[in-house]
Amino acid sequence: FISSQSFQEEELREKTVVVIDVLRASSTMVTALDNNAKGVIPVADMDDASKISQNLNSPNFLLSGEKNGVKIEGYDLGNSPLDYTSDVVKDKTIILNTTNGTKAIKRASLAKEVVIGSFLNLRTVVDYLQKVESEIVLVCAGWHDRLALEDLLCAGNIIYELTGGSLSSTAQDGAKVAFGLYEKFGDDIEGTIKSSNYAVRLKDIVSEEDLLYCCQRNIMQVLPAMNEGIISDIHGK
Ligand code: MLT
Repeated sequence: FISSQSFQEEELREKTVVVIDVLRASSTMVTALDNNAKGVIPVADMDDASKISQNLNSPNFLLSGEKNGVKIEGYDLGNSPLDYTSDVVKDKTIILNTTNGTKAIKRASLAKEVVIGSFLNLRTVVDYLQKVESEIVLVCAGWHDRLALEDLLCAGNIIYELTGGSLSSTAQDGAKVAFGLYEKFGDDIEGTIKSSNYAVRLKDIVSEEDLLYCCQRNIMQVLPAMNEGIISDIHGK
């Protein structure tokens, strides 16, 4: 089934959770790992980020993230996936602090497993979920507890692929909503996302290049998964 951030942390126990923040935290993490970052440590806030950076005991990390879309002052990187190129992130641990995405991941820590989904790695996520036996929860990070169209559309795409395009009438309401949204808008992801609340809200901060980048489907075969607070690529492992 599918949930926004209004889930109770306890209800994720024993579940496989996919956290989706298409714009842009999930897309950034997938890109960083595809470009051979060693791992991503999601943090909930700046205090958390500075504590972890002090305890890491290695200079090989980047402090990254944004607040309401804007790069945090003093950080090495913001949250544009286009900045996470191989020459910048290879072999680095990234401490990532974002407005909604990394907070949603932190809140899912009781789950049996947490993986990161986006359009970029959708096929790899679906292939993985097809083998999972536990109940699956798709967590759409949204924006300050509100629903975000792009996250629900991506969730709908995952459900569509998982069900072969035919959703059972007994499916959860959330799954039906996401599936229906994907049926309606799935053939124009770019157009749909360009007119989303996020695109309008952050039009002066986030480039159209970033938006279009995050709409690309299946260009990366990365499966970011959480293990002891660190997200790394487990595809093929
Ligand atoms: C978030 O966590 O809400 C996003 O990553 C915001 C952004 O795109 O910078």
